Amino acid sequence: MNIQIHKNLEALSRAAVEFFAASAAQAISERGRFLVALSGGKTPQSMFQMLPDAPVGWPRVHVFWADERCVPSDDPGSNYGQARRAFLDKVKIPEENVHRVQSDLEPAEASKSYALTLSGFAEPPLEFPRFDLVLLGMGDDGHTASLFPGSEVDASTPTLAVTAQYQDRPANRVTLTPKVFNAARQIIFLVSGESKAETLARVLDDENYQPETLPAQRIHPLGGAVTWMVDEDAASKLPRRMKQKFCEG
Ligand code: 6PG
Repeated sequence: MNIQIHKNLEALSRAAVEFFAASAAQAISERGRFLVALSGGKTPQSMFQMLPDAPVGWPRVHVFWADERCVPSDDPGSNYGQARRAFLDKVKIPEENVHRVQSDLEPAEASKSYALTLSGFAEPPLEFPRFDLVLLGMGDDGHTASLFPGSEVDASTPTLAVTAQYQDRPANRVTLTPKVFNAARQIIFLVSGESKAETLARVLDDENYQPETLPAQRIHPLGGAVTWMVDEDAASKLPRRMKQKFCEG
């Protein structure tokens, strides 16, 4: 695990764009394509807006979602819609490389249909792809993607239908599960703002492993790496030894 502490959301977003571009270049040169899973929420918005200016081989990029809210794709709450408006409409990505969740279906149906989409990119013996990069956020309550505190995680399926109330966001969702996240090559968590500070300190405390209440702790890729890109406000409650160990961006 690696933690980068950046001055503010803008600096963090710039670093995340650089990470995205480097990770895409490496995947494309090694495997001919770049498989990335996006999240929704406020934090990635500025990174998304910077992506059209980044040197990325878009024709070789395949975009998926770590989670989606079950609303029509033109609803302001749609994670797909957010990415489409912020950058997908502005880059040369082939339409068939955008693999959205069928969020207008019933959640259980949408979840099944997304598992099928994933199986089309499976890296055997897995029945889903090994993502080159997964972008995750973290809620004030420690949720990530749509893995919420207290909700059961069926570890056997690659996707799950979930119902969870968080802030004023749509409650019915589809999420990828830890088995998919933990097979990824690279994961970045983007975390910004003071409201996340206390939870971030609890999530990163190795002596406090409580994944049922802090689902972000379920993310620990077996053959990959996790980078936490956080801003100074979000890092404000990390113990000093942790802040000293990791570079300030
Ligand atoms: C979603 C997200 C979710 C998000 C966190 C953080 O669809 O709601 O994927 O997991 O990443 O809630 O959201 P913020 O960036 O808005 O704090």
